[in-house]
Amino acid sequence: MARVALVTGGTRGIGRAIAERLKAAGHKVAANYARDHAAAQTFQRETGIPAYSWDVADHAACEAGIAKVVADLGPIEILINNAGITRDATMHKMSVEGWRDVVDTNLTSCFNMCRQVIDSMRQRGFGRIVNVGSINGQAGQYGQVNYAAAKSGIHGFTKALAQEGAAKGITVNAIAPGYVDTDMVRAVPPAVLEKIIARIPVGRLGRAEDIARTVLFLVADDADFITGSTISVNGGQHMY
Ligand code: CAA
Repeated sequence: MARVALVTGGTRGIGRAIAERLKAAGHKVAANYARDHAAAQTFQRETGIPAYSWDVADHAACEAGIAKVVADLGPIEILINNAGITRDATMHKMSVEGWRDVVDTNLTSCFNMCRQVIDSMRQRGFGRIVNVGSINGQAGQYGQVNYAAAKSGIHGFTKALAQEGAAKGITVNAIAPGYVDTDMVRAVPPAVLEKIIARIPVGRLGRAEDIARTVLFLVADDADFITGSTISVNGGQHMY
């Protein structure tokens, strides 16, 4: 059945692949993005998917942004919390801003977004929420105390909300991508990335499409018995 879907961080990288896949499956899709208006314009032109700009770390902005999407497309039935940033630094070099920006954008955003859609999902007796975690939230990563903590938090958030949603037709699952070929991963110093790729048994970086197909599986109407799960999509790099 065609549903209304919203993807945060949905105009580039993994989010874009998710938005495109959902649209191809017949859903009415909206993409959120933070600041990169040029990329969003290109995305809208190439995909025909409307893009809405707001900061997912900002609770009031989420309230206003989601109200606009609902006015344009209808109540949100599928929410993909994909937006995320890195501010990699070892603890002894990490600023408090580097900590806060990552925790607010990657984890508090999940609260900000879910809080706005949960009432209507409960009323309608249907909802699909997928939170994008990370292999580095499962295994930790040198230089990512902030990111690993936020992503690890997503996995606990998912299990708790899944328990609340279960009797209301709302499933809540997480995907833990490994290293996927996106701008974020391309920003890793080449020598470090080379060593990481050498540890991926499948022998390559992930593709955004590898994550998008997993989202599609989890949001299906008949995936109603899958909730509170984390699916690792990492080429065998970490078997959790
Ligand atoms: N394990 C052990 N030691 C490590 C290490 C690791 N993974 N990475 C670096 N080091 C060591 C270095 O060898 C170096 O040691 P020496 O001083 O003895 O030579 C020391 O740590 C300092 O390393 P750098 O010179 O790189 O230090 P820096 O302060 O300039 O940078 C860093 C540190 C920011 C962590 C940098 O190494 C870095 O960016 N690493 C990549 C971190 C990473 O993988 N991020 C993932 C981003 S993608 C993502 O997050 C998506 C996802 O979900 C998977």
